[in-house]
Amino acid sequence: MRKLSAIIVTALAAALLPAMAVSASDDVISIGFAQVGHESDWRTASTKSCQDVFSAENGYDLSFVDCDNDEAAQKEAVRSFIEQDVDYIIIDPIIATGWDTVLTECEDAGIPVIVIDRTIDDSDKYAAWVGSNFKTEGLAAGEWLKAYADKQGIEELNVLTISGSTGSSAQIGRSEGFNEVAEKYGWNLIDEQTGDFTEAGGQEVMENYCKSYEGQFNVVVCQNDNEAFGAMTAMDNAGVTYGPGNDVILISYDACTAGLEDVKAGKITADFECNPLAAPFVEEVIKQIEAGETPEKEVYMVEHWYALEDQVVDFEIDGVAQEMTVVTDEVIEAQY
Ligand code: AHR
Repeated sequence: MRKLSAIIVTALAAALLPAMAVSASDDVISIGFAQVGHESDWRTASTKSCQDVFSAENGYDLSFVDCDNDEAAQKEAVRSFIEQDVDYIIIDPIIATGWDTVLTECEDAGIPVIVIDRTIDDSDKYAAWVGSNFKTEGLAAGEWLKAYADKQGIEELNVLTISGSTGSSAQIGRSEGFNEVAEKYGWNLIDEQTGDFTEAGGQEVMENYCKSYEGQFNVVVCQNDNEAFGAMTAMDNAGVTYGPGNDVILISYDACTAGLEDVKAGKITADFECNPLAAPFVEEVIKQIEAGETPEKEVYMVEHWYALEDQVVDFEIDGVAQEMTVVTDEVIEAQY
């Protein structure tokens, strides 16, 4: 629903200037987008998706703020959008909690909020959320690992995890899902430290792991591709081999183009997609609100699990058979 002021201005213009068409700019929808930051390939794809969909050519005026992973800066950005009196606010929440006060301010200002990607877990004062089921991603990675290890005859799994930004729903869900499976099968979870979803963070954590746990691990789980890129550099420097048939089974999330290239190159053993292309679905939500309809509160992105042919195995999540996608040049070409 457009704010009353915009509706009144449009109605007045139509009444006062009956002979003239209402200018196109009267229909422009203003949006403020408080993005997490620019920490990963995934994030770049997410930003591009929003900028492409909410372009001036498509009738939008998008104010974009890169919050550089700073929770306070993100709340400040939302408050500045309220000041600007935008029509809609999009938030990709850096962390899952601490949102109720600022969302109440948005509600009081009559500005609908659409949450994307990560969830807000302590307030429901938003119109809709469009994003990923991070726990399912973690469960998929765990159940794939079980089936793959069985196929390879690997009996003991000693796992190191490089987690994402602590307190983000992406980190919480992936850890919860994977660790639940690990517990079920009695794997040895050696350590879990954050790489903050960055390549530099992944490298630093893996350098420490290689020193502290030399010869003690055979699985490394990176909670995004960029952390995996950093972890590979650290393992190269430490003389640890990874990928199918080597010392370490390397698991990653996101399945961005560069991640899938590393699957194809036999470096990452399996990659679990997190789909960043939420903007078209957000646009649907906006259209529904504009039409006076109530959008679905939760919209889940479709996601795929990727590996090379030899690493594809049958597995289930809660009794539901999962399909894997074989990584080919065409698949990589079509990815973000
Ligand atoms: O919230 C989605 C996660 O955040 C992606 O896995 C990661 O790459 C990004 O930084």
